[in-house]
Amino acid sequence: MAKLVRGFKDVFGQEADALTELETSARKVFKLYGVAELRVPTLELKELFVKSTGDTTDIVQKEMYAFEDAGGRQLALRPEGTPGAARAYIENNFANTDPVKKFFYIGNMFRAERPQAGRYREFEQIGAELIGSAAPAADAEAILLLKDIVKDFGITNYKVKINSLGCKECRPVYKKELIAHLSAAKAELCEKCRERLQRNPLRVLDCKICGPKFTQSAPKQKLCPACAEHYEEVKTLLRGKIDFEEDTTLVRGLDYYTRTVFEFQAGSLGAQNAIAGGGRYDGLIQSMGGPDMPAVGWAMGAERAGIARGEKPAKKYLKIYVVSMDKTANEAAFNVMQTLRTAEFVTLGGLFDKNLKAQMKQADKSGAGYAVILGENEAKGNYVTIKNLETGAQEECPQKELLNLFKLKR
Ligand code: HAM
Repeated sequence: MAKLVRGFKDVFGQEADALTELETSARKVFKLYGVAELRVPTLELKELFVKSTGDTTDIVQKEMYAFEDAGGRQLALRPEGTPGAARAYIENNFANTDPVKKFFYIGNMFRAERPQAGRYREFEQIGAELIGSAAPAADAEAILLLKDIVKDFGITNYKVKINSLGCKECRPVYKKELIAHLSAAKAELCEKCRERLQRNPLRVLDCKICGPKFTQSAPKQKLCPACAEHYEEVKTLLRGKIDFEEDTTLVRGLDYYTRTVFEFQAGSLGAQNAIAGGGRYDGLIQSMGGPDMPAVGWAMGAERAGIARGEKPAKKYLKIYVVSMDKTANEAAFNVMQTLRTAEFVTLGGLFDKNLKAQMKQADKSGAGYAVILGENEAKGNYVTIKNLETGAQEECPQKELLNLFKLKR
């Protein structure tokens, strides 16, 4: 039997509807913020992710779908959207033509992680990258943009955490201090953290096993004056507009972050509690061979956002189901169906090769409020029979009055 690949999934019904609703909310809010769409390929050179997502990250070390194509090129399915967006910014030479760019993308990402609730091997990200501004206002704008999408979509129960990771001046100092502190307690670290202690000690702090052991004792990041000022201004801009918590253990799992990082977390998601995450990445574009361009962005896991919101009571659309009782009425019934759609009524039906009973059964199943039924008499007399599928009440209506009648019911 045909079978899905483990960790991949089909999406349909309520889940698919939720993704579409989220995309609609996001597109609406992106427009308000002047953020334009960027569509980049799903497949890139593997090297792109190794150099940008970072070769100390779990993503690059073991989660990439990477392979060699027939031409001997080393490729990878994108595990995240930021590297592709940065590459597009550089390759399309935006720095010279239009340096301040606000992009969004909606697309599927691939990570060979251990599948569990809220964690898939193919998932959708909705992301934004604001390139070209080093101002704290850009960080605050990115966070509020995300908040407005989450709000429009209808997620109410979530926390916003923020932190500053410092810059290339102050972070190495902290990293050194942290390595010294954690090395002294090496025996208490899990295997994974022992391995990454030298490369990426900050990750120990957000490890589910080791993090809590060091929350109190670990030295805190001391920001240099410029980073401290930046962070203070971001917080000032956010105050009164969004509730947030500062969390010095929030380090995020990607290598490119500098200064502000943030996550939107929902308790209802369990272990995979991040609906969205992001931060500033001022050095990335230059490290990829581009100009020295500051940037800040985030990505939201669309499926997780859907789970966090939960099922929303379906909007009461006026759905109409069109039935033909007789071959001679098929054309009239078909025309009625199209007329209703032109007037923006959700119109189902058209199973005219089935008998009346089967069509009415489908009508009941479809969730339609009304069936519009046409037989030979209706077709000849230019009227229709309307059946209220909830109460069973029937009425007749001239075809030319049909739209007006349903507009009153809408
Ligand atoms: P990330 O934290 O790796 O950041 O992913 C962002 C979001 O994608 C997560 O918060 C989560 O909701 C969702 N996500 C990640 N992995 C999975 C998975 N296996 N299954 C389902 N959902 C998942 C980034 O990807 C950065 N590119 C964000 C960014 C943009 N930073 C700056 N600009």
